[in-house]
Amino acid sequence: MSHAEFIRNFYSQRLAAAAENRDHYDILDWASAAAQQARFQVLAEHLTAAFAAAPALLDVGCGFADLATYLAARRLPARYVGVDLNAELLAAARLAAARAENPALDLRCGDIFTDEHLFAPREFDVVFASGVFNLRLDNNAAFASNAIRRLQRFAKHSVVVNFLHRRAATKYDECFYYSPPAMLAETQSPDWETSLRDDYLENDFTLIFRRRAIKTNRNASRCATKPVPDVPQLCDISATNPT
Ligand SMILES: C[S@@+](CC[C@H](N)C(=O)[O-])C[C@H]1O[C@@H](n2cnc3c(N)ncnc32)[C@H](O)[C@@H]1O
Repeated sequence: MSHAEFIRNFYSQRLAAAAENRDHYDILDWASAAAQQARFQVLAEHLTAAFAAAPALLDVGCGFADLATYLAARRLPARYVGVDLNAELLAAARLAAARAENPALDLRCGDIFTDEHLFAPREFDVVFASGVFNLRLDNNAAFASNAIRRLQRFAKHSVVVNFLHRRAATKYDECFYYSPPAMLAETQSPDWETSLRDDYLENDFTLIFRRRAIKTNRNASRCATKPVPDVPQLCDISATNPT
Protein backbone atom coordinates (compact mmCIF):
# COMPACT_ATOMS: atom_id res chain seq x y z
CA MET A 1 0.00 0.00 0.00
CA SER A 2 1.38 3.45 -0.85
CA HIS A 3 1.84 6.15 1.81
CA ALA A 4 -1.04 8.08 0.26
CA GLU A 5 -3.43 5.10 0.39
CA PHE A 6 -2.45 4.34 3.97
CA ILE A 7 -3.04 7.95 5.08
CA ARG A 8 -6.28 8.26 3.10
CA ASN A 9 -7.66 5.03 4.63
CA PHE A 10 -6.68 6.07 8.15
CA TYR A 11 -8.74 9.28 8.05
CA SER A 12 -11.60 7.76 6.00
CA GLN A 13 -12.04 5.06 8.65
CA ARG A 14 -12.11 7.66 11.42
CA LEU A 15 -14.64 9.72 9.45
CA ALA A 16 -16.85 6.67 8.78
CA ALA A 17 -16.76 5.65 12.44
CA ALA A 18 -17.58 9.15 13.66
CA ALA A 19 -20.93 9.89 15.23
CA GLU A 20 -22.87 12.67 13.52
CA ASN A 21 -21.72 15.55 15.66
CA ARG A 22 -18.20 14.42 16.40
CA ASP A 23 -15.79 17.34 16.42
CA HIS A 24 -13.37 17.83 13.56
CA TYR A 25 -10.31 17.81 15.84
CA ASP A 26 -11.36 14.41 17.18
CA ILE A 27 -11.84 12.83 13.74
CA LEU A 28 -8.41 14.18 12.75
CA ASP A 29 -6.91 12.56 15.88
CA TRP A 30 -5.88 15.78 17.64
CA ALA A 31 -6.09 15.67 21.46
CA SER A 32 -8.40 18.69 21.63
CA ALA A 33 -9.58 21.74 19.71
CA ALA A 34 -7.10 23.78 21.77
CA ALA A 35 -4.23 21.48 20.69
CA GLN A 36 -5.25 21.78 17.02
CA GLN A 37 -5.47 25.56 17.34
CA ALA A 38 -2.17 25.94 19.23
CA ARG A 39 -0.54 24.74 16.00
CA PHE A 40 -2.56 27.26 13.95
CA GLN A 41 -1.49 29.98 16.38
CA VAL A 42 2.19 29.49 15.47
CA LEU A 43 1.29 30.11 11.82
CA ALA A 44 -0.90 33.10 12.75
CA GLU A 45 2.01 34.73 14.61
CA HIS A 46 4.28 34.17 11.61
CA LEU A 47 1.73 35.70 9.20
CA THR A 48 1.18 38.72 11.43
CA ALA A 49 4.92 39.35 11.78
CA ALA A 50 5.85 38.78 8.14
CA PHE A 51 3.02 40.25 6.04
CA ALA A 52 1.30 43.61 5.92
CA ALA A 53 -1.20 42.52 3.24
CA ALA A 54 -3.10 39.23 2.89
CA PRO A 55 -0.60 36.55 1.81
CA ALA A 56 -1.44 33.73 -0.60
CA LEU A 57 -1.56 30.74 1.75
CA LEU A 58 -1.53 27.05 0.86
CA ASP A 59 -2.82 24.78 3.66
CA VAL A 60 -1.37 21.35 2.86
CA GLY A 61 -3.35 18.48 4.38
CA CYS A 62 -6.16 20.90 5.18
CA GLY A 63 -8.62 18.21 6.36
CA PHE A 64 -11.87 20.07 7.13
CA ALA A 65 -10.20 23.45 6.40
CA ASP A 66 -10.50 24.39 10.06
CA LEU A 67 -7.55 26.75 9.56
CA ALA A 68 -9.66 28.90 7.20
CA THR A 69 -12.33 29.18 9.90
CA TYR A 70 -9.68 29.94 12.55
CA LEU A 71 -8.10 32.75 10.49
CA ALA A 72 -11.45 34.27 9.54
CA ALA A 73 -12.64 34.26 13.17
CA ARG A 74 -9.52 36.23 14.14
CA ARG A 75 -9.79 38.55 11.14
CA LEU A 76 -6.39 37.45 9.88
CA PRO A 77 -6.60 38.03 6.13
CA ALA A 78 -5.15 35.39 3.82
CA ARG A 79 -5.91 34.22 0.29
CA TYR A 80 -6.55 30.67 1.41
CA VAL A 81 -6.22 27.50 -0.69
CA GLY A 82 -6.53 24.08 0.95
CA VAL A 83 -5.34 20.77 -0.48
CA ASP A 84 -5.88 17.27 0.85
CA LEU A 85 -5.57 13.77 -0.55
CA ASN A 86 -8.79 12.67 1.15
CA ALA A 87 -11.84 13.58 -0.96
CA GLU A 88 -14.26 12.61 1.82
CA LEU A 89 -12.74 15.10 4.26
CA LEU A 90 -12.89 17.76 1.55
CA ALA A 91 -16.56 16.98 0.84
CA ALA A 92 -17.31 17.49 4.54
CA ALA A 93 -15.24 20.69 4.51
CA ARG A 94 -17.22 22.02 1.52
CA LEU A 95 -20.50 21.20 3.23
CA ALA A 96 -19.39 22.99 6.42
CA ALA A 97 -18.24 26.00 4.35
CA ALA A 98 -21.59 26.16 2.53
CA ARG A 99 -23.45 26.00 5.88
CA ALA A 100 -21.26 28.84 7.15
CA GLU A 101 -22.10 30.75 3.96
CA ASN A 102 -18.52 30.55 2.72
CA PRO A 103 -18.99 28.37 -0.39
CA ALA A 104 -16.15 30.16 -2.21
CA LEU A 105 -13.52 28.32 -0.16
CA ASP A 106 -10.87 27.05 -2.61
CA LEU A 107 -10.23 23.36 -1.82
CA ARG A 108 -8.34 20.96 -4.09
CA CYS A 109 -7.95 17.20 -3.95
CA GLY A 110 -4.55 15.63 -4.54
CA ASP A 111 -1.35 14.25 -3.09
CA ILE A 112 0.91 17.27 -2.73
CA PHE A 113 4.02 15.09 -2.76
CA THR A 114 3.38 13.19 -5.98
CA ASP A 115 0.87 15.12 -8.13
CA GLU A 116 3.07 17.10 -10.50
CA HIS A 117 0.58 19.66 -11.76
CA LEU A 118 -1.40 20.70 -8.69
CA PHE A 119 0.38 24.05 -8.27
CA ALA A 120 3.01 26.18 -9.97
CA PRO A 121 6.45 26.84 -8.45
CA ARG A 122 6.31 29.74 -5.95
CA GLU A 123 2.53 30.09 -6.44
CA PHE A 124 2.02 30.88 -2.72
CA ASP A 125 3.62 33.28 -0.28
CA VAL A 126 3.36 30.77 2.55
CA VAL A 127 2.92 27.00 2.57
CA PHE A 128 1.67 25.51 5.84
CA ALA A 129 1.37 21.85 6.83
CA SER A 130 -0.12 20.87 10.18
CA GLY A 131 -0.33 17.22 11.18
CA VAL A 132 0.64 15.95 7.74
CA PHE A 133 3.59 13.95 9.11
CA ASN A 134 1.88 12.54 12.21
CA LEU A 135 1.30 8.96 11.09
CA ARG A 136 4.00 6.32 11.45
CA LEU A 137 5.34 5.24 8.03
CA ASP A 138 8.28 2.97 7.24
CA ASN A 139 10.74 5.89 6.82
CA ASN A 140 9.31 8.99 8.48
CA ALA A 141 12.35 11.26 8.81
CA ALA A 142 13.56 10.72 5.22
CA PHE A 143 10.02 11.06 3.86
CA ALA A 144 9.47 14.31 5.78
CA SER A 145 12.72 15.95 4.70
CA ASN A 146 12.04 15.10 1.02
CA ALA A 147 8.49 16.32 1.43
CA ILE A 148 9.68 19.65 2.84
CA ARG A 149 11.84 20.23 -0.23
CA ARG A 150 8.70 19.65 -2.27
CA LEU A 151 6.70 22.15 -0.21
CA GLN A 152 9.50 24.70 -0.63
CA ARG A 153 8.98 24.62 -4.42
CA PHE A 154 5.53 26.13 -4.00
CA ALA A 155 6.53 28.91 -1.56
CA LYS A 156 7.79 32.38 -2.44
CA HIS A 157 8.47 33.43 1.16
CA SER A 158 8.12 30.69 3.76
CA VAL A 159 7.14 27.16 4.71
CA VAL A 160 5.73 26.40 8.16
CA VAL A 161 5.52 22.72 9.15
CA ASN A 162 4.80 20.99 12.44
CA PHE A 163 5.77 17.59 13.81
CA LEU A 164 4.98 15.51 16.86
CA HIS A 165 7.81 15.92 19.38
CA ARG A 166 9.78 12.95 20.71
CA ARG A 167 9.58 14.44 24.23
CA ALA A 168 5.79 13.73 24.30
CA ALA A 169 4.89 12.07 27.60
CA THR A 170 2.14 10.00 25.97
CA LYS A 171 2.96 8.28 22.71
CA TYR A 172 0.60 6.35 20.39
CA ASP A 173 1.65 3.42 18.21
CA GLU A 174 0.13 4.84 15.03
CA CYS A 175 2.10 8.10 15.37
CA PHE A 176 5.73 9.03 14.75
CA TYR A 177 7.62 11.37 17.11
CA TYR A 178 10.45 13.45 15.68
CA SER A 179 13.69 14.89 17.03
CA PRO A 180 14.01 18.68 16.43
CA PRO A 181 17.84 18.61 16.09
CA ALA A 182 17.64 15.71 13.63
CA MET A 183 14.97 17.43 11.55
CA LEU A 184 16.92 20.71 11.58
CA ALA A 185 20.00 18.86 10.34
CA GLU A 186 18.04 16.87 7.71
CA THR A 187 16.38 19.95 6.22
CA GLN A 188 19.36 22.36 6.09
CA SER A 189 19.71 24.19 2.80
CA PRO A 190 21.69 27.27 1.68
CA ASP A 191 18.52 28.71 0.12
CA TRP A 192 16.46 28.65 3.32
CA GLU A 193 16.90 30.06 6.80
CA THR A 194 15.30 27.77 9.38
CA SER A 195 13.96 28.51 12.85
CA LEU A 196 12.46 26.24 15.47
CA ARG A 197 9.40 26.85 17.66
CA ASP A 198 8.94 24.32 20.44
CA ASP A 199 7.37 26.51 23.12
CA TYR A 200 3.64 26.08 22.50
CA LEU A 201 2.84 22.40 23.25
CA GLU A 202 4.69 19.67 25.07
CA ASN A 203 4.19 17.18 22.20
CA ASP A 204 4.80 19.33 19.12
CA PHE A 205 7.31 21.57 17.39
CA THR A 206 7.28 23.72 14.27
CA LEU A 207 10.00 24.42 11.73
CA ILE A 208 9.75 27.75 9.92
CA PHE A 209 11.74 28.01 6.69
CA ARG A 210 12.25 31.47 5.16
CA ARG A 211 13.57 31.73 1.64
CA ARG A 212 16.80 33.69 1.34
CA ALA A 213 16.53 36.26 -1.44
CA ILE A 214 19.01 36.49 -4.31
CA LYS A 215 20.36 40.05 -4.46
CA THR A 216 22.35 41.46 -7.37
CA ASN A 217 25.30 43.63 -6.42
CA ARG A 218 24.69 46.57 -8.79
CA ASN A 219 26.73 49.15 -6.80
CA ALA A 220 29.85 47.01 -7.00
CA SER A 221 29.68 46.97 -10.79
CA ARG A 222 29.23 50.79 -10.93
CA CYS A 223 32.29 51.45 -8.71
CA ALA A 224 34.64 49.00 -10.33
CA THR A 225 37.22 50.22 -12.88
CA LYS A 226 36.50 47.25 -15.12
CA PRO A 227 32.91 46.18 -15.71
CA VAL A 228 32.07 43.46 -13.20
CA PRO A 229 29.15 41.18 -13.96
CA ASP A 230 26.29 41.23 -11.46
CA VAL A 231 27.11 38.80 -8.67
CA PRO A 232 24.20 36.91 -7.17
CA GLN A 233 24.45 37.04 -3.37
CA LEU A 234 22.44 35.36 -0.72
CA CYS A 235 20.78 37.83 1.57
CA ASP A 236 18.59 37.09 4.56
CA ILE A 237 15.03 38.25 3.87
CA SER A 238 14.26 37.99 7.57
CA ALA A 239 16.25 41.26 7.88
CA THR A 240 13.30 43.04 6.25
CA ASN A 241 10.63 40.64 7.57
CA PRO A 242 11.46 39.95 11.22
CA THR A 243 9.46 36.94 12.41
C1 LIG B 1 -3.86 15.34 11.31
S1 LIG B 1 -4.76 15.78 9.88
C2 LIG B 1 -4.64 17.56 10.03
C3 LIG B 1 -5.66 18.32 9.23
C4 LIG B 1 -5.51 19.84 9.31
N1 LIG B 1 -4.19 20.26 8.90
C5 LIG B 1 -5.80 20.33 10.71
O1 LIG B 1 -4.86 20.54 11.48
O2 LIG B 1 -6.98 20.49 11.03
C6 LIG B 1 -3.61 15.44 8.54
C7 LIG B 1 -4.21 15.69 7.16
O3 LIG B 1 -3.17 15.64 6.19
C8 LIG B 1 -3.67 15.03 5.02
N2 LIG B 1 -2.52 14.58 4.22
C9 LIG B 1 -1.56 13.72 4.60
N3 LIG B 1 -0.65 13.54 3.62
C10 LIG B 1 -1.05 14.31 2.57
C11 LIG B 1 -0.54 14.55 1.26
N4 LIG B 1 0.55 13.91 0.80
N5 LIG B 1 -1.19 15.42 0.43
C12 LIG B 1 -2.31 16.03 0.87
N6 LIG B 1 -2.86 15.84 2.10
C13 LIG B 1 -2.24 14.98 2.95
C14 LIG B 1 -4.59 13.92 5.55
O4 LIG B 1 -5.50 13.44 4.61
C15 LIG B 1 -5.25 14.66 6.72
O5 LIG B 1 -6.41 15.32 6.32
